[in-house]
Amino acid sequence: MSDTARIIELGAHAGASVTVRGWVTHLRSSGKVAFIVLRDGTGILQTVLVKNQVPPEVWERFAELTQETSLAVTGEVKADARAPGGYELGLTNVEIIGSSPLDYPIQPKEHGVDFLLDNRHFWLRTPRQVAIMRIRNEIEMAIHDFFYQRGFLRVDTPILTAAIGERAGLFSTEYFEEGNAYLAQTGQLYGEAAAAAFGKIYTFGPTFRAEKSKTRRHLTEFWMIEPEVAFADTHDNMRLQEDFVSFLVQRVVERRKDELKELERDITKLEHISAPFPRIDYTDAVATLQKKGSSVQWGDDLGAEDEALLVEDYDRPIFIMNYPKEAKAFYMKENPDDPRTVLCDDCLAPEGYGEIIGGSQREDDYDKILQRIREEKLPEDAYDWYLDLRKYGTFPHSGFGLGLERTVAWICGVQHIRECIPFPRMMHRLRP
Ligand code: 4AD
Ligand code: MG
Repeated sequence: MSDTARIIELGAHAGASVTVRGWVTHLRSSGKVAFIVLRDGTGILQTVLVKNQVPPEVWERFAELTQETSLAVTGEVKADARAPGGYELGLTNVEIIGSSPLDYPIQPKEHGVDFLLDNRHFWLRTPRQVAIMRIRNEIEMAIHDFFYQRGFLRVDTPILTAAIGERAGLFSTEYFEEGNAYLAQTGQLYGEAAAAAFGKIYTFGPTFRAEKSKTRRHLTEFWMIEPEVAFADTHDNMRLQEDFVSFLVQRVVERRKDELKELERDITKLEHISAPFPRIDYTDAVATLQKKGSSVQWGDDLGAEDEALLVEDYDRPIFIMNYPKEAKAFYMKENPDDPRTVLCDDCLAPEGYGEIIGGSQREDDYDKILQRIREEKLPEDAYDWYLDLRKYGTFPHSGFGLGLERTVAWICGVQHIRECIPFPRMMHRLRP
């Protein structure tokens, strides 16, 4: 009996006989020598079958193989500098686990993106998608490490909620006798309650926005990471953001070089990403944009084109601070130096990737936040518990939300965030 090993582990088995299980990607035969290339999700392995070195029934199985046949191959691990991954397997046995008909949809040719999205369950098997998902996974692990090291508690917040958090579109569903339930657009409001219980928390979960936008940056379901820190002001908040983002980028650069290479990502654009990030006041940003020919007016939120114009002068993320009250959500704290504005920031990624973080200091004054809830015509009775936080031991606090898919897209250098989540949900896509 041979040990089983995954392709990435073969180096530890050089000279030994092992069994590797996976799926066929390429087949080639000269009639006496056959090559089976397979993948197992950790790498690509070339294996060699020599007709006069294996029993006839093993050799004959080669003819039954097709792309995506799942199989177990056994043989000796041989170092070979020319082979992908550096090792080759000299086969003594081939076992077919599951056959695969010849009409496998994804062939080695160019496919349109709609076709690939229709076949997302297969598209995920290709090297580029595997690389993106491994980087996504690295970022997820790095997020937990970052907050764990800094003493944050992870808090899981509800997905079904009655309290609306953001202005974007809502998905709603009937909820027994309780009226409408919404799919959470944010975990923040619950994060604020938890910050008063635990001091420093973060949420990590799916969030939903019924946005009728078909841009390359919008999903209807995306994952957001939302830290909330008691007694932190807007400046503390930005310092946490720049440390956090830099940590994530450097972690991927250190540990996911092969995947970045597969994606042909220019690593020099990532290596120098470190704190501090430039801080630009919204009012100054509007003046700069107008000089650059944008039609933006003071009071507008900034669109994707404006964001791209702003970041073009910088080689790292930037903060745009203190937006007009009307452009932002009800919970942001009024700026004491200019009450037309709120203490908030958007963090814009370089290279035109746009807003990856929205953050703010929260309004901690009971009367002011009640007034904002009324101005925004939000259902007051759904916020009674949220208002309680301003009544029983109110406290200055700040937090932010990082969009996971946008962060993955930027770090990977992928243009559209639909490739940065395993099964994207968009306005026109609910399957697979
Ligand atoms: O700026 P947003 O709307 O902020 C919030 O939701 C706050 N509650 C966060 C907080 O302070 N706790 O969203 C935060 C981030 C954006 O910067 C963006 O990266 C991402 O979430 N995001 C989306 N990502 C993909 N598709 C969408 N439709 C997104 N909407 C927001
Ligand atoms: Mg935002």
